[in-house]
Amino acid sequence: MKRMLSGIKPTGRVTLGNYIGAIKPFVSYQDEYEMIVFVANLHSMTIYQEPKELRKNTRDLIALYLAAGLDPEKVTLFLQSDVLEHAQLGWYLGCMVSMGELSRMTQYKDKASKLGKNESIGAGIFNYPSLMNADILLYDPDYVPVGEDQKQHCELARDIAERFNSRYSETFKLPEPLVPKVGGKIMDLQDPTKKMSKSEQTSKGCIYILDDIQVSKKKIMSAVTDSDNHIIYDPENKPGISNLLSIYSILSKKSIASLEEQYQGCGYGQFKKDLAEVVGQELQKIQDRYHEIIQGSYIDDVLKNGADHARYMARKKLAKVERKIGITIKK
Ligand code: AMP
Ligand code: TRP
Repeated sequence: MKRMLSGIKPTGRVTLGNYIGAIKPFVSYQDEYEMIVFVANLHSMTIYQEPKELRKNTRDLIALYLAAGLDPEKVTLFLQSDVLEHAQLGWYLGCMVSMGELSRMTQYKDKASKLGKNESIGAGIFNYPSLMNADILLYDPDYVPVGEDQKQHCELARDIAERFNSRYSETFKLPEPLVPKVGGKIMDLQDPTKKMSKSEQTSKGCIYILDDIQVSKKKIMSAVTDSDNHIIYDPENKPGISNLLSIYSILSKKSIASLEEQYQGCGYGQFKKDLAEVVGQELQKIQDRYHEIIQGSYIDDVLKNGADHARYMARKKLAKVERKIGITIKK
């Protein structure tokens, strides 16, 4: 079985975009791959997190992955901060990467270019690709599913792995980033030319998985569309209705073509009403399980088992690295 690894940051509330673009695909990968999934809480510290919120977002994120069907019997699920080897290897790899390489990372460049005159950028944002490289290389994954914005960091992990292997001898497997082709971008319901994102000012265009069901239905009913009343998939000219068709298709497992056929001659009103029902049912299912999971100690048990397993793998790899680079002095 090929191995797949990914990290998810516990920042903000989980959206329908996250669910369709990241959570659902993970759940479907678990039967095909040996999956390692961790909550990248060390990464979230690159920007200030209100402690109480960070704690809640972290527990919610884990509960929602479990509620959506991630099975801890199949997947190693853990908190990054529970496996100290990530930070330790991150330090060694940070010593093997150049300032030039890190300054070429677009995410860093973007953030740096948006800085106001009297603002400064945290060193964490600059350095974090080294920690991400460690997250990946500790576990020798074949594939790393990420969004487009993280592809460059995965490529850096390959470069650093090659550098290490050629300097000290074969140690790390070269990972491959896996960027989804469809469902990768659910758009804002109020402005369908923009990605649905938790950081938007108003939340009318963004459905949160823990939204009140009636609220989520209202958001679908008031989604911006066009005025020609034809239900056709055409992202360029009809971004609003195309986005709704994508959501409908993914949640109902019906193809876009079959939905177009089903709704031929039907107005947007009926279509939206049916979709609101589909979204409401999906959220209800997840929320029911979420409320069961969030109480009691299930999450803590899952994380403990996950961390024990991850630590076992990470320790072996780190010990190998430390022998090779001369840190370990025992013969
Ligand atoms: P973020 O919320 O930006 O931290 O992203 C977490 C994960 O959710 C990443 O794998 C993203 O690719 C995915 N994701 C976020 N927003 C969307 C969206 N609007 N459509 C599809 N996937 C998304
Ligand atoms: N940096 C990623 C993000 O911002 C999260 C992440 C951390 C990650 N470590 C990782 C993703 C390792 C894949 C592999 O979304």
